[in-house]
Amino acid sequence: MPVTRNISFSYREYSNPEELDPEDRELVFLAKEAAKKAYAPYSGFMVGAVVRLESGRKVTGANVENAAFPSGICAERTALSSSVSNYPDDKPVTIAIAAMTADGPTPEYVSPCGNCRQVIAEEEIRTGRQIRIILSGEKNIMLIDSVRHLLPLQFSRDNLKSNLPV
Ligand code: THU
Repeated sequence: MPVTRNISFSYREYSNPEELDPEDRELVFLAKEAAKKAYAPYSGFMVGAVVRLESGRKVTGANVENAAFPSGICAERTALSSSVSNYPDDKPVTIAIAAMTADGPTPEYVSPCGNCRQVIAEEEIRTGRQIRIILSGEKNIMLIDSVRHLLPLQFSRDNLKSNLPV
């Protein structure tokens, strides 16, 4: 007989950056600033991300698009590629994401795409520590404790290990 299982998770939702603690509030500000530096001439959707590392260092990134569409990269992966390659031993604690269009900051929060979730998951596994995720929009802000919640049943190195032929 099949067993029905349920996956659920809790997150915190804020209606205003003022409700965040000061460190997180600064990250939302920095993510919005990073979005201003996006190169997004094709979509007009400018995304910024900032990774706060254990040392307190902050590493930002923005989406960089390309006329050959798949060659573009999201803000989250730009920021994480930078932190991993420049500060491999300084573990990410939090990543904050914000987006804007020609009309200004997006009213709704922006959630990382599937590729970015997978990359954030790899970084959690590499460092052995959860990465808090802050999704920020003008109307609401969400705080999620780990990418595991956004990518349940994720593919990871364990799948490789247990399924490769010996
Ligand atoms: N984008 C990001 O940078 N991060 C996300 O979380 C979602 C999407 C970018 C990719 C592309 O340059 C533009 O937003 C529109 O999809």
